Amino acid sequence: MNAKIVVIGCMLLLPCVAGAASVDVQRGRYLVKIGGCNDCHTAGYVTSGGSVPEAQWLTGQAVGFKGSWGISYPANLRLLVRAMSEEQWIHQVGQPALPPMPWFSLREMSEIDRRAMYRYLWSLGPAGSPAPAYVAPGAAAPTPYILFVPQQDERQAGRQVPAFKR
Ligand code: HEC
Repeated sequence: MNAKIVVIGCMLLLPCVAGAASVDVQRGRYLVKIGGCNDCHTAGYVTSGGSVPEAQWLTGQAVGFKGSWGISYPANLRLLVRAMSEEQWIHQVGQPALPPMPWFSLREMSEIDRRAMYRYLWSLGPAGSPAPAYVAPGAAAPTPYILFVPQQDERQAGRQVPAFKR
């Protein structure tokens, strides 16, 4: 093929290809933000009103959630995607996980959005360390944790607090 045609062809095509890739990543970022993933998967995000720098986003938490299921830790999603192909991620997202991970919400996510999220997580690059391992009910807690059990103020005795049921 004529070299001139190839060069002109590439000049026309490349911005489209690059544009499509960045749209994916930007959509993934948008989904992460509105999906509340940082609330649990980024330390300090909720208590700072969402002002944690993006460089620290989604690196997981070493403060666990303790309930009848034991103690669960929000995974380091930036490391998780490095250990998974995009196809594995698509399959894994929405599989049952321990509370309070809202896996049943992610189950509803379309394939195209799962891809966008994976590409955004990948674009952030690896950072932080893996979250601590899950702790079974009754075992000693190796880290601080948030107690995910309804509490009843004695002064409110008589008012019903709904119990968590598995
Ligand atoms: C209310 C807290 C909370 C929110 C919000 C949350 N997660 Fe999680 N997530 C967790 C916890 C806790 C775990 C660990 C669950 C376990 O050990 O089974 C987890 C685990 C995961 C895992 C690993 C599960 C697996 O199958 O290996 C993925 C992927 C994940 N979360 C993605 C997300 C995404 C994407 C969002 C936003 C749409 C999100 N999470 C929002 C708490 C949360």
